[in-house]
Amino acid sequence: MPTINPTRPGSIRIGDELRVPRLGFGAMRITGDGIWRPPQDPAEARAVLRRAVELGVRFIDTADSYGPETSELLIAEALHPYPADLVIATKGGIVRPDKPTWARDARPAHLRAACEASLRRLRLQRIDLYQLHAIDPNVPLEDSLGELARLQREGKIRCIGVSNVDAKQLARARRVVDVVAVQNRCNVADRSSDPVLAICERDGLAFIPWSPLGQSPQDADAPPRVALQRWGREHGLTLQQAAIAWLLARSPAMLPIPGTSQLAHLEANVAAANASVSAAELRAIG
Ligand SMILES: NC(=O)c1ccc[n+]([C@@H]2O[C@H](COP(=O)([O-])OP(=O)(O)OC[C@H]3O[C@@H](n4cnc5c(N)ncnc54)[C@H](OP(=O)(O)O)[C@@H]3O)[C@@H](O)[C@H]2O)c1
Repeated sequence: MPTINPTRPGSIRIGDELRVPRLGFGAMRITGDGIWRPPQDPAEARAVLRRAVELGVRFIDTADSYGPETSELLIAEALHPYPADLVIATKGGIVRPDKPTWARDARPAHLRAACEASLRRLRLQRIDLYQLHAIDPNVPLEDSLGELARLQREGKIRCIGVSNVDAKQLARARRVVDVVAVQNRCNVADRSSDPVLAICERDGLAFIPWSPLGQSPQDADAPPRVALQRWGREHGLTLQQAAIAWLLARSPAMLPIPGTSQLAHLEANVAAANASVSAAELRAIG
């Protein structure tokens, strides 16, 4: 059974107190179609979560909006009581009034209610990493993060992260709270967050790439993705495995969170953490 080799890809620090192996699991895909309501087979979703932990994953990313509520509930059902070293990162600031809608709501009162509801669903006293899912254009960032800082002082949150921010917004956020992690879209075809990644590397923040496998149509024909696929084939890896190996090699700040609803894909993704990409190969992939 593949387990995450602790020396490759190594571990990463999240804030001053937490350290996890550098391959996480994204728990958005364990919900129903369209990230809405329970999955067709909740038992399989719970099995995927348990297997992830068995294989050595110690960082699980979720959000109250995944389902909504479903992903957090499944995590608790599958894994509570949690291993002491498991870090569960959740998010607030996006609401799902209906299946197609992902609406921003980062008003302080909403974030407080969202965080407290996540604590209950996850059966936790404190959330290790609570991330502002997205900036709400109708609410000053300072107000949203100010509330997260209050929740942190009250002991309900250990560390604070932000998501979907550019470099300027990150700097603004860091003037309000100690941001320890950034979660942005990033994969071989989408380098738009490279400036943020560079800041994370420089200042010791974890960079959590979402959509790490680059599975969306928007990523499909990018030349580096084609080069990555070729490199993967030469090394006996699928494109998805190559994508994970590439991210891990790209920066020590990178903490990928590939998401899957399938045991076989989970195992393949975890095995990819043991592959290595040399600096020359990284350059050749582009
Ligand atoms: N902060 C944000 O705004 C934000 C936005 C989106 C996602 N996220 C987080 O990021 C995580 C990952 O993002 P994502 O799920 O969008 O993208 P992803 O992990 O790049 O791709 C997931 C897709 O790839 C498939 N897949 C996974 N492993 C595979 C494999 N080995 N072979 C073939 N297909 C495979 C999955 O389908 P199967 O289920 O069939 O395997 C799923 O459709 C999410 O779980 C969530 O935690 C955050």
